[in-house]
Amino acid sequence: MKLKDKLFGLIGFFVAGLMMFSCTELKEANYQIIPMPLDIQLAEKGKFVLAEGTPVIYPEGNEKMQNNANFLAEYVKEKTGIALAPTVGTEGKGIILKVEENKEKPEGYMLKVTSDNVVISGGSEAGVFYGIQTLRKSLPVVQGEKVALPAVEINDAPRFNYRGGMLDVSRHYIELDSVKRFIDMLAMHNINRFHWHLSEDQGWRIEIKCRPLLTEKGSMRKETVIGRTGKYDGKPHGGFYTQEQAKEIVAYAAERYITVIPEIDMPGHMLSALHAYPELGCTGGPYEVWCHWGVSKDVLCAGNDATLKFIEDVLGEIVEIFPSEYIHVGGDECPKTRWESCPKCQARIKALGIKGDEKHSAEEYLQSFVINHAEKFLNSKGRQIIGWDEILQGGLAPNATVMSWRGEEGGIEAARQKHKAIMTPHTYLYFDYYQSYDTKNEPLAIGGRLPLERVYGYEPMPKMLSAEEQKYIVGVQANLWTEYISTFRYAEYMLLPRLAALSEIQWSSADKRNYECFLSRLPRMAQLYDLKQYNYAGHAFDITANLVPDSTAGVVKVAFKTIDNCPIHYTLDGSEPTAASPLYTDTLMIKEACTISAVGIRPARKTRLFTETVNIP
Ligand code: ACM
Ligand code: ZN
Repeated sequence: MKLKDKLFGLIGFFVAGLMMFSCTELKEANYQIIPMPLDIQLAEKGKFVLAEGTPVIYPEGNEKMQNNANFLAEYVKEKTGIALAPTVGTEGKGIILKVEENKEKPEGYMLKVTSDNVVISGGSEAGVFYGIQTLRKSLPVVQGEKVALPAVEINDAPRFNYRGGMLDVSRHYIELDSVKRFIDMLAMHNINRFHWHLSEDQGWRIEIKCRPLLTEKGSMRKETVIGRTGKYDGKPHGGFYTQEQAKEIVAYAAERYITVIPEIDMPGHMLSALHAYPELGCTGGPYEVWCHWGVSKDVLCAGNDATLKFIEDVLGEIVEIFPSEYIHVGGDECPKTRWESCPKCQARIKALGIKGDEKHSAEEYLQSFVINHAEKFLNSKGRQIIGWDEILQGGLAPNATVMSWRGEEGGIEAARQKHKAIMTPHTYLYFDYYQSYDTKNEPLAIGGRLPLERVYGYEPMPKMLSAEEQKYIVGVQANLWTEYISTFRYAEYMLLPRLAALSEIQWSSADKRNYECFLSRLPRMAQLYDLKQYNYAGHAFDITANLVPDSTAGVVKVAFKTIDNCPIHYTLDGSEPTAASPLYTDTLMIKEACTISAVGIRPARKTRLFTETVNIP
């Protein structure tokens, strides 16, 4: 071989070596995820390398564990392209899934990684599922590279048993596939309750076979008000879920350890039902399915026995569709105007011997009568009720759980009365509120301002409650009302990344919560959002700039930052920066007046443009 050929051979060898090296490069998992696990103990050394065909071993004859194994394989494939092999068994080199029953912490899990294997053992199958979610979120997004899991032992369990997310499908109907997408989002945030708001003034969304007009007439409105213009779009809007479809959702959620809690909102927010059955209203109608938003004075007539029968008919079918222990019966925003002048309602007040007092009006006690009726019926079917905090007015039904939305007071009062409470104060957890103070640059929202940091800052356990009373605060939920949210794409924007903040309030222990730390973990969560093509809001990922004038030196010092230190490109002439513009590496010393503009460029998307006029001191 000539010298030249030898040289080329040698170079080829090195190039091949380099290629081999890059093909087998190891990317490591990172256990700093959202929600933050309770305890992470990294070992000093050792790692488990995921490879094509690595078995996911699950116990024979356990369908839930088989599903869990399939979920894990699906998630790993999605993030890394590596195909794991679900396999029946109990031992071996691979990822072993097992249940070690723990009645105290059924949703808790241990994730132990050694160089030989990975063990996820849950207090129940649900616990295993959350261990799988942790593993999923720890993985890097790679293409072609190998993935190593550093040796670790994670012990984790949720802070709250009830971790909810509410979706209003009544103001805007949401397609079945999007409802499933919502459930997928809940699952990746360790949320275990899907509160499904199914009835409203603006549309009835669930088939009730013995009351067919509810969906024939009540599921469709003639048109919808456009934003805050007072004008209408002239387009009919509606839709509903058949009982079969609703059962499909229940099953889809259950596979992901999520209980669906249906809400039939009564006795207010009932115009769609009154349009279908006007005899159930105090005035007899006619009524229309509302095409705009707000609170209607027309509500179910509490003095009419037919109303009580209607409630039983509807809830009787609801319990057949939804196996959840809890059924939400609404109870919010029910004006008493009609009841005050309705002969039937007043006759009922008299017959029941109800008297108004300094605490509540007679009509508030009448509302309590309606909710009590619903509760008695549901209790007879082995179910319990949840109601919005207005169900405290007129006295709580004996076994009711209170969902505290007008603030925390309802939840606090319920806990003092030894009733369970779920905290969902609108001042922190209404995701239909704007998520930026810069509302001009946001899509239209109902009002309120709840940036990510404020959501994250919510502490649901009221300090003024005694330890005993605190036990009644069973959970936390965020709500997405959809008056102004006409597409699911927009819903995604309102939900994310605020669901990530919510998940940490619901799951992680209070002493682990730290917003800066949360932000440092968020970019890796967002990689998962990008993979799923979720439309998340980018405020937290935008550039933050620090401009400091130094009059002695005659300069302005400009420093940029993003939460993931992504490449930032800038210009000083007012033009919009591109990837070809200068890369920001260190504090800029601006010596002449200019317009400075900057964007952060990530593979999936850019930050919003930062721009500022700089004057020299
Ligand atoms: C509610 O926001 N009306 C519960
Ligand atoms: Zn009436």
